[in-house]
Amino acid sequence: MKENYTGAPANRVDGRAKVTGEAKYTAEFDIPEVAYGVVVNSSIAKGKIKRIDTSAALALPGVLQVFTHENRPGYTWLDSHYQDEDSPPGSPFRPLYSKEIMFSMQPIALVVAETFELARYAALLVQVDYEMQPHETDFKANLKDAYRPKKYKSTKPPEPRGDAEGAYDQAALKLKETYIHPPQHHNPMEMHAAIAKWDEDGKLTVYDKIQGVQNSQKYLSNAFGLKPDDVHVISPFVGGAFGSGLRPQYQLFLAVLAARELKRAVKVVLTRQQMFSFGHRPNTLQEISIGASTEGKLESVQHHAYGETSRFEDYHEDVVIWPGVLYHCDNMKVSHQLVGLDVYTPLDMRAPGGSTGIFALEIAIDEMAYKTGIDPLEFRLRNYTTTDQSKGLPHSSKELKECYRQGAERFGWDKRSMAPRSMKEGNQLIGWGMAHGAWEAKQQEASAKVVLSPEGKLTVSSATADIGTGTYTVMSQIAAETMGLPLENVTFLLGDSTLPKSPLEGGSWTVASVGSAVKLVCQKLQEDLLKLAQKMENSPFKDAQPEEVSFANGQMFLTQAPASSISLLALLQQNEGKPVEAEATQKPEKEQKKYSSYSHSATFVEVQVDEDLGTIKVTRVVSAIAAGRIINPKTGRSQILGGTVWGIGFALQEHTVMDNHLGRFMNHDLDKYHLPVNADTPATDIIFVEEKDEVVNPLGVKGLGEIGIVSVTPAIANAVFHATGKRIRELPITLDKLL
Ligand code: MOS
Repeated sequence: MKENYTGAPANRVDGRAKVTGEAKYTAEFDIPEVAYGVVVNSSIAKGKIKRIDTSAALALPGVLQVFTHENRPGYTWLDSHYQDEDSPPGSPFRPLYSKEIMFSMQPIALVVAETFELARYAALLVQVDYEMQPHETDFKANLKDAYRPKKYKSTKPPEPRGDAEGAYDQAALKLKETYIHPPQHHNPMEMHAAIAKWDEDGKLTVYDKIQGVQNSQKYLSNAFGLKPDDVHVISPFVGGAFGSGLRPQYQLFLAVLAARELKRAVKVVLTRQQMFSFGHRPNTLQEISIGASTEGKLESVQHHAYGETSRFEDYHEDVVIWPGVLYHCDNMKVSHQLVGLDVYTPLDMRAPGGSTGIFALEIAIDEMAYKTGIDPLEFRLRNYTTTDQSKGLPHSSKELKECYRQGAERFGWDKRSMAPRSMKEGNQLIGWGMAHGAWEAKQQEASAKVVLSPEGKLTVSSATADIGTGTYTVMSQIAAETMGLPLENVTFLLGDSTLPKSPLEGGSWTVASVGSAVKLVCQKLQEDLLKLAQKMENSPFKDAQPEEVSFANGQMFLTQAPASSISLLALLQQNEGKPVEAEATQKPEKEQKKYSSYSHSATFVEVQVDEDLGTIKVTRVVSAIAAGRIINPKTGRSQILGGTVWGIGFALQEHTVMDNHLGRFMNHDLDKYHLPVNADTPATDIIFVEEKDEVVNPLGVKGLGEIGIVSVTPAIANAVFHATGKRIRELPITLDKLL
């Protein structure tokens, strides 16, 4: 691979298929004789189903069956404690398992009919009597019952270092504040959907909206007691997911159940409203205390988080690791507790824990910078760390300072006046704010396969996903570049459970994991090609070692003597017209454990706040990102743009409102759940800062999925403070909070 830190800004290889409609998303697969399932959801949050009357629905000609807890077959959930690859500790929710209601909008019946319209109408006729029990959905009111989970889903909060309480008491400057963000719900364009079809031979074929086909495969084989090889899951295109498709959701279970019972293919597509029935970014409250010297040196940081979870699973995310990652401070104490509520288990949502913890921490740091009178960027420089003190490890690379420098320069940060309300234009208060962020750069074990056809076409495959992030494109680029072939000669296949094993597409680790496997399998292919060359008469490659050989322009050549070359096509003729194949698995190297690896961001934001109306407009965003090598700056930029838009929504709009009387999220549609539209989104300047990392993984990449959002939200909140002098610590920052 070339040593440049950015690769080619290639267009998406699947772009044409997507804009022409040729790309098929789950619900679009045309299966003959398919029946349609529509889900009935509970209207209460806690209690029991006393009576469920399906007779009126069943009486309609064309209604095939109504599945409920009363008639569901007994073979399901053979292992009732089954966990999927992303489930938190606890007992996963089991659709139609019993009459018990554990959360509002719990699926309680599936109506299956010949047409979608009929199924939807029949679903309205299902009559349910409930025995209601008191529910608790009020997060703030239940904080008193917060508990520490026995097991943590992600990282256990780091142990205390130094004496955080003592250092806080001694500190010249102190800050102690509480930061809150509300529940937020996933709203990808594509709704969750599944189609299930049982074949004559007892094998199951499933189309599912999922961020990892092998997770659905594993889940179904456990839930239905099947051999994994008998479950084939297909998901070639995903219309956005960002965490909502990490865990198999109930549409999958219900489609498979119905298809098995009816001996007929069944499709279940959730409605937009039902997208609000299975998991959300949890309501989180964070108490942060900071002690600092008058010179702006952090002397103590305490970060204590409370996040909601369901009654049946302990959902936890990395909310409190960030002070240790982002700042040097010898006295630190953090904790994370859970508040159990009668809701569905929260769900990972773009930068889970990161966007949550960093939002609070970075506002608190801005507040402390103001207490010291030091410019917020300068304050961060004074507390810069080159090691991860929580882990006691150096960073494998960290170009955050360069992010500050380039971001600040592009933004014009040096022209900022420190005092709030000091940059007015007419009745518009102008605010400039900044924040920085990080996201862990992880690599997971992944496998890939490569087939080089006699015509010189390369097909690379792995059972990963493309949730819109550009996996097809970037994997094709890695293979093309490694093999020295034009991009159009490469096809990448994904989203099929029969392909080589891949982790879920999440955590921003896909390029690091699957991309590294693609690189490795191409290198293996190169060794095989070298062996073929060595079999030729008078081969100049006779004594060559794999590392002495290079590939470019469809040729293999000796690196030291490029004139000694052979075209791949000529080499393939040596293989008796057969393709050359290789398969490989790439695991993380042990060396990585000696380092802490994160991508970093610095975001600078300008807002305009109307002094009379309190309306906030984000007018400018500059984000500088250090995330190792950038394989494709074009798809990469799109990731960061998406994160920016989401950060605007996080800061100013997104909020699912819980009606605690009903125990139900009330604004469950896109009319009342507000998201940024184009008019809310300014021109955004994205800088990829050069960062070389030879440890993090064989590609030197760090992932771009999540780093785009984390610092945007606090930068906006800090800009609003700079504009108005009002410090808003509870999101979203709506105009009523400013008046
Ligand atoms: Mo990740 S939470 O799958 O965007």
